Amino acid sequence: MISTITMKWNGSTLELIDQRKLPHVEEYVKCQTSECVAKAIKDMIVRGAPAIGASAAFGYVLGAMENEKDLSVAKMEEVKERLANTRPTAVNLFWALKRMHSKFLEIHSQSKSAKEIVSLLNDEAEKIAREDIEVNKRMGNYGQELFPQDVTVITHCNAGALATVDYGTAVGVIHAALDHGKTVHAFVDETRPYLQGARLTAWELLKLGVDTTLICDNMAGWVMKTRKVDAIIVGADRIAANGDTANKIGTYSLASLAKKHGVKVYVAAPLSTIDVSIKNGSEIPIEERSHEEVTHVQGVKIAPDGVKVYNPAFDVTDADMIDAIITEKGVLRYPYVKSIKKLFEQK
Ligand code: MRU
Repeated sequence: MISTITMKWNGSTLELIDQRKLPHVEEYVKCQTSECVAKAIKDMIVRGAPAIGASAAFGYVLGAMENEKDLSVAKMEEVKERLANTRPTAVNLFWALKRMHSKFLEIHSQSKSAKEIVSLLNDEAEKIAREDIEVNKRMGNYGQELFPQDVTVITHCNAGALATVDYGTAVGVIHAALDHGKTVHAFVDETRPYLQGARLTAWELLKLGVDTTLICDNMAGWVMKTRKVDAIIVGADRIAANGDTANKIGTYSLASLAKKHGVKVYVAAPLSTIDVSIKNGSEIPIEERSHEEVTHVQGVKIAPDGVKVYNPAFDVTDADMIDAIITEKGVLRYPYVKSIKKLFEQK
């Protein structure tokens, strides 16, 4: 059993809060098939790297249930592919599916009954979800140490409870700072085109009681120039072995402005977001999304017919622009090739 604002799992149904409708409507979508979970990920009912990973793990369990009569390796490979072919950038999706599929291969080879296999897969998916919450809390504790007693940050996209099973990564650091008695002022980038900042992060931070100010993305530079901003704090969708970090489109612009204004750039991400199989950011696949996200705002057309559109959903911030990567095992510093290698050797 898992029950958080983002997702609820009772062993046979995954309920996902429909993040497309927030903050005005709090409605859950019920999934009882792997196909439904794959669609929920693709359509961004659930979004945010760790939340996508955990949802896919539960989708994999539903896939095993669907195939209980013939629980073969081939069938489970199909399930894995169905869930993997949804969004390409966040590595947590592939990390969680790899973990679930390895577990399946291990127990399948022990000639257990289909019922036992499903039950063990359920345990593994719940473990992934519970670990995510634990890891976020640990990350928050490490990360808050980087903040002064009274801190002003700029956040981008949504790396809060909604982007994870619970608690959040970058917002988790803010949450932990509050728990340590610190005062946090947050400027929230609206995060065009999908508006995760305006719709989701502003909603979460207000609920936490943070002094929250919404800005359009193109105001961040001016805010850094004219106000006291201590740090940019963001999450990540995939971090390469050298520390190059893919996150929501606009993170690179924000980090560039931060460098110009002497503002710290902090990334909070669990080890499951670090992809040591790739050397640098040029190998990270960047998702491109529909043109309507740019030509329309919340369904209302704003651009003329016939205009060309480019809509990359993520960008890559170079490792040397990042002052610290906050993980559940501690705070990493540049050069990340060394600190990430050391971390994975300890694992
Ligand atoms: O397209 P989204 O909304 O899934 O993008 C999410 C982000 O870019 C987040 O910043 C990232 O996944 C980190 S979430 C803890």
